[in-house]
Amino acid sequence: MQAGYPLRLIKLGCWIAVVSLLGFSSLCAQSVEATEGLRIMADRNTGNCVSCHEIPAWKESSQNTNRLTLQGNFGPSLQGVGSRYNKEQLRQWIVDARLIHPNTLMPPYGTTERLHLPARSQNLLTQKQIDAVVDTLTTFKQASVSTKDEKSSEALTAAGLAQLQSANAMNPIGLWIDEGKRKWEKNCTSCHALEKIVKAVPNFPKLDASQKLINLEDQISACRKRDAATTIAFASDQFFPNDDTPTLELSTFLNDAARQLSINIAPPTNPLHAIIWKQNLAEGEKLFKNRQGHMNLSCQQCHDGKVGASMRAQKITAGHPTGFPAYRISWQGLGSIERRIRACYSGVQAQVPAPQDMRLRQLELYLKTRAQGLQLDGPSIRQ
Ligand code: HEC
Ligand code: HEC
Ligand code: HEC
Repeated sequence: MQAGYPLRLIKLGCWIAVVSLLGFSSLCAQSVEATEGLRIMADRNTGNCVSCHEIPAWKESSQNTNRLTLQGNFGPSLQGVGSRYNKEQLRQWIVDARLIHPNTLMPPYGTTERLHLPARSQNLLTQKQIDAVVDTLTTFKQASVSTKDEKSSEALTAAGLAQLQSANAMNPIGLWIDEGKRKWEKNCTSCHALEKIVKAVPNFPKLDASQKLINLEDQISACRKRDAATTIAFASDQFFPNDDTPTLELSTFLNDAARQLSINIAPPTNPLHAIIWKQNLAEGEKLFKNRQGHMNLSCQQCHDGKVGASMRAQKITAGHPTGFPAYRISWQGLGSIERRIRACYSGVQAQVPAPQDMRLRQLELYLKTRAQGLQLDGPSIRQ
């Protein structure tokens, strides 16, 4: 088949675009047939329902010819909902399901009332979009029509990922470690023995001399500033974000050397300092457990309550911060724990704290305390 080969190539190209550009699956979508409602449910920028629900009608729609839109199982399959609920009930599910189940995990698409820190003031969907979605849901009548290409699409996923991962055989993490080592030897060994600093890696975040909670990257930044002679060039005099390249390189080097040490968080011995530390931990726990954003979900509801469930291609883990800095395919680069936490704020469509915001440190302290005793995996590759 002569035409088959290039076609497959195009599909693979699309697939890689889907995975790497996270959010632009519509790039590869072909022309219509799916209803407006179905498209809203599949599109990441509008309903994005398929990140949590299986929607067989979308799998089978001719618009989704590449069959590559991965569907989640965070919530139940929407197959047959048109038989289980009437139109008004379906509308209530979409507009604000809290009136049906006060503890629902289904985001409210038609209101911003009683939401904490939603990213925008508009509702997730307009009235018109909700009408289109509800109209389509009423047509989901049949009992399950078996998702016949589930297997093959998953095989494709695994193969494609394997391919991407092996493209990382020029694994970028190695380069970051090498560069971090070079900077360490040049700029840090005048004051520090490596062995001692590596042993300190599993103890962060902790209070600095001014009783401010800092993480490893903050400490590295503080040391980079310490001494003009050893200062490594940085982007701005005032601001050392955790993801500043030299800081991240040094963190990658130190986290690699600390691989297999156990996370070991402890309050300071000074009782007054211990009170400050505990307040930070309590804040972190509160932040972890509070619902927020348009999705109205807490960190806990995903990372305790839904471990193993899928949101599109991503399987939810316990969210233990053991594999950082992480190289994420969707970032096309390396990122700190701070960046990952900010990404989860953005994932629930909450206002994202600015880099260095104390809430990010308090959350990191809580996450590390919750992961106490777990081994550090060192810098890792993630989707
Ligand atoms: C963050 C994940 C998430 C997203 C995104 C999401 N849902 Fe849900 N949805 C759930 C969960 C979880 C439930 C299960 C019921 C509950 O928690 O109260 C649910 C329940 C439902 C139900 C009731 C199903 C039943 O069988 O009782 C419908 C209908 C529904 N969702 C439609 C949608 C539509 C349409 C969209 C997109 C506009 C959407 N959902 C987006 C998580 C989600
Ligand atoms: C001029 C001396 C000096 C240099 C150079 C220096 N540091 Fe430090 N470092 C310190 C001091 C002093 C501390 C104790 C905490 C503080 O005052 O910030 C420290 C603490 C640390 C800690 C925490 C150790 C612990 O036990 O908690 C780390 C990690 C660290 N430095 C990393 C680095 C890195 C990476 C570099 C190279 C960019 C570096 N330091 C360069 C003086 C230095
Ligand atoms: C809607 C579900 C959801 C919510 C809510 C959520 N996350 Fe996540 N989080 C994910 C997904 C999906 C991933 C990627 C897969 C994984 O590692 O679990 C992730 C990854 C992480 C990771 C990286 C784990 C690793 O090993 O790479 C951390 C840390 C994390 N989240 C922390 C948080 C924090 C802190 C909050 C609250 C501010 C939060 N998450 C809220 C879904 C969520």
